[in-house]
Amino acid sequence: VHQWRGVIPEYADRLPMLAGAPVVTLREGGTPLIPAERLSELVGAEVHLKYEGLNPTGSFKDRGMTTAISMAAKHGAKAVICASTGNTSASAAAYAVKAGMTCGVLVPEGKIAMGKLSQAIAHGATLLQVEGNFDACLDVARKLAESYPIELVNSVNPARIEGQKTASFEVVDALGDAPDIHCLPVGNAGNITAYWRGYREYCNDPQVSDRPGPATHLPVMWGFQAAGAAPLVKGHPIDDPETIATAIRIGNPASWSQAIAARDESGGRIDAVTDEQILAAHRFLSAREGVFVEPGSAASVAGLIASAEAGLVPAGARIVCTVTGHGLKDPQWALRTADGGEVVPTRVSVDAVSAARALGLEG
Ligand code: F0G
Repeated sequence: VHQWRGVIPEYADRLPMLAGAPVVTLREGGTPLIPAERLSELVGAEVHLKYEGLNPTGSFKDRGMTTAISMAAKHGAKAVICASTGNTSASAAAYAVKAGMTCGVLVPEGKIAMGKLSQAIAHGATLLQVEGNFDACLDVARKLAESYPIELVNSVNPARIEGQKTASFEVVDALGDAPDIHCLPVGNAGNITAYWRGYREYCNDPQVSDRPGPATHLPVMWGFQAAGAAPLVKGHPIDDPETIATAIRIGNPASWSQAIAARDESGGRIDAVTDEQILAAHRFLSAREGVFVEPGSAASVAGLIASAEAGLVPAGARIVCTVTGHGLKDPQWALRTADGGEVVPTRVSVDAVSAARALGLEG
C-alpha cells in the first residue's frame, strides 16, 4: 500500500539542495486541495482551498522544516533556533525531536496562540518569551546563530523556502495546471516567495514526467496582510504591528524584496484586510465550507472576498487560496459571535424532547 512519503522523497528531483542529506520527515505535505462551492458562488469564480492545517504539526511550516532540519542534520548540527509567532516554533520543535536535536524558540510574550505554545513545550523545546514582537525575536535568533553553534531555521534559511515551494507543485499536480490566481496570507513573506518559486520551476518544465504537469502558465499572486501589520502595503516597516491574527503580526518581513518581486513579476498585488474581515472569513470557512482554520490563515480568503466586492475577480477564474494553519491552533475565535459576544451553549435536560426543541425539531 502506498503512503505519501513526505515532500523530500516525493519531489527529490526538484530539491537538488537536499541531495545526500539524511531525510528527517513526519510525512508532511500531500495536503488536500478542497473545492469550495459556497465561496466560489460568493465570489463568482472557481475557488479551491489548499488546506495546510492538515500537515503533521498543523501548519504549512512542516514543508520547510523537513528540509531545514534535514540540512541541519547534514551539517552535523546538534541544536536549532528560531523566532516565531507560534507555528514555526511548533514545527521546529517537532522535527528537532525527530532528528534528535535540541531546539530553542523565541516567541513574543503573550502574543502566541495557546495551541502553538503547547506544541513547542510538548516537544521539549526551550521556550524563551521575549518582551518584544516577532521582529525583535528574529533579530536575537539571527545573532545567536551567528555567534554560537546553533542553526537558524527561520525562512531566511534557504532550505526553508526550498521545502515550502512544494506546495505549488502539489497544486499543479492536483489541478493539472496552475490556477489563474493564488491567494496567500503574508507575514514574514517566506511563503509567497516559496510559492512563486515553485510555480516558476514547474512551468513548462519538460522534466515533469510521471505527473500531470507541467503547468502551461503562471498564476497571478495575491498576498494579504493584516491591516495593523501591513508593511508591504504601506511601503515601510511597522514598529508596533497589531492584529488578532497573531501568526502574521509582523512589522518588518525578512523576505520583503522577494515578496515584492513575486507580486510584480506575476502582475499581482499585496493588499491589507482588517481584523473584522479576517474573522468574517474565518467564520465563513468554518460555517459554510466545513474547513476550520486559524485567523491568520483566513486572511487569504478575506482578501479574496474583498477583491470580489471591489470587482477585481474575473468571472469564472480558477483560484487557489492557501489556508495555512489549523483552527485548533487558536480555537478561541470560534467561541465569539460576530458582534464580539461569547457563544453560550444551550443547556437541555436529559430527554429527547427538550433536545429536539433546542434543535428546532419540536414546537
Ligand atoms: N499563516 C500562518 C498560520 C503562519 O503561521 C504564518 C507565519 C503565515 C501565514 C505567514 O507566512 O511568514 O511565510 O509570510 N508564521 C511564522 C511563524 C512567522 O513564526 O510561525 P509567511
